[in-house]
Amino acid sequence: MKEQLEQLLAAAVATLKQQGSLPAELEPRIQLDRPRDKSHGDFATNLALMLAKPAGMNPRALAEALIAALPSNNLVAETTIAGPGFINFVVSQQQLLQQLEHAYQDAKVGVEPAEQAKRIVIDYSSPNLAKEMHVGHLRSAIIGDAVARIEEFLGHTVIRQNHVGDWGTQFGMLLAHMEELEGSELELELSNLETFYKAAKKRFDESPEFANRARELVVALQSGDAKCRALWQQFIDVSLSHCQEVYDRLGVQLTRADVMAESAYNDDLAQVVADLRAQGLLVEDQGAQCVFLDEFKNKDGEALPVIVQKSDGGYLYATTDLAAVRYRQNELGGDHLMYFVDQRQGLHFQQIFTLARKAGFARPDLQMDHYGFGTVMGKDGRPYKSRDGGVTKLADLLDQAEARALALVQDKNPSLSAAEQAEIAKVVGISSVKYADLSKNRTSDYIFDWDTMLSFEGNTAPYLLYAYTRVMSVFAKAGVEPTAITGGFIIEDEREQALANVLVRFNEVVHSVANKAMPHFLCGYLFELAGAFSSFYEACPILQAEQAEVQQSRLKLAALTAKTLQQGLQLLGIQTLDKM
Ligand code: ARG
Repeated sequence: MKEQLEQLLAAAVATLKQQGSLPAELEPRIQLDRPRDKSHGDFATNLALMLAKPAGMNPRALAEALIAALPSNNLVAETTIAGPGFINFVVSQQQLLQQLEHAYQDAKVGVEPAEQAKRIVIDYSSPNLAKEMHVGHLRSAIIGDAVARIEEFLGHTVIRQNHVGDWGTQFGMLLAHMEELEGSELELELSNLETFYKAAKKRFDESPEFANRARELVVALQSGDAKCRALWQQFIDVSLSHCQEVYDRLGVQLTRADVMAESAYNDDLAQVVADLRAQGLLVEDQGAQCVFLDEFKNKDGEALPVIVQKSDGGYLYATTDLAAVRYRQNELGGDHLMYFVDQRQGLHFQQIFTLARKAGFARPDLQMDHYGFGTVMGKDGRPYKSRDGGVTKLADLLDQAEARALALVQDKNPSLSAAEQAEIAKVVGISSVKYADLSKNRTSDYIFDWDTMLSFEGNTAPYLLYAYTRVMSVFAKAGVEPTAITGGFIIEDEREQALANVLVRFNEVVHSVANKAMPHFLCGYLFELAGAFSSFYEACPILQAEQAEVQQSRLKLAALTAKTLQQGLQLLGIQTLDKM
């Protein structure tokens, strides 16, 4: 509906240009908002206010002219001019009914495919493999995965890239520790990477011989020594299988096939540096090879360096990312490269994007975006820590989520069998952690708090999952399939109207989530939908409705609500339950 209305307004602008009332060179961006206050209609635009100046017209007079120039249509039932020159639109009821019917029938719940299907490369999760995944790795995996699902749903081809860190100097220390342990002892130690890392670090700090051996091993590894390589591979395999366990538990759609590790770019790095040199972009600074970009300055106004090769010949994080841009464009055929990485790496990515363009590694039309996110904080307002003050391993965190959810389910529904309770608890626990993350504005820090995320009140997973089971229980009671309801939608009661108005917005919301990579828009929408359903359900009897047509229509509203909730949650990577 929003798009249709945009097209109508664009046509009105074109007509006014032809008539000479608007300057021909004007290309206005038409903005349509959903007013919060329903008395302002379904949509509002400030178009007349924006164009008044260039047109040399009074905004209200221009608003009138725009309305008069709208092509005839069956979308808009009413227009009004408000305040200094806003135009408010009321959508026709017939249009609303058609839209509801379409969403009810449509496999994609009325969500239109993107105008232009692209190849989108999405870099997410991408942990360093030296340590086990911890709470800091949650956001990239969860948010990146939701956006990947949504882009795919809109018809784009999504290529997932897990850019794991497997090549830093830390690996020397880990390999030296592996060398010291043998056979079954080594296997046992590797089963907990967190303690393994700590033990290796301790040896490194205590023993100069060990530290020397660690340095030797880095050199050996990077120069391709076979024995060293095999040891390293053993470690990487263990670490990657830990990651895979976490992805599988979280329902994150990453597999081993999506891993494109830092080390995989190793052979391209000399070429990256050579190409930068050939373009005259390199400067030697204290023995290191750097590029100075005028776009990025420190507070004294001096250009900041991007270091691509250290004085000892080693390459850096930035060098690998430059190689990765080239690979993603040329080998993967990406049109849009998306990066879900901690906000604190913002400068790094802006530098990489700017430099990749300057060096011709990225075509001018290649779209590259870093989508940063804030930190997961504890209740004390500091980065989230486990009780012993260490970082919380993700695997332990998920165990805890399931245990807490189990207590909740046992309390809420004691009549279920133990097996059912355990099954439900798994979904509720994992969903709560995911939803808590997705429902917050991506760019802000958020507080990790078990009590709020597991609450049945507010914008939480338990609330939405429960709302879904409540809607589904209507069909169980009625003994009908939600997909097999005959008869049309009849919207009379104001609660029916309010619910219908929310339902038809799903398409717009999904598109805006995709455009801005902001899953919390969708969470907010689903929460609003569940609320609108609940008000409708309290006020409008379904099975007790007096007329058969009204009963059918209300069942159909419930069915579309369930379908939308389920699709919305699925796009967020959250599984629904039939009972809980
Ligand atoms: N491994 C990095 C880290 O843990 C994140 C990698 C993100 N992706 C990238 N292409 N740089 O900080």
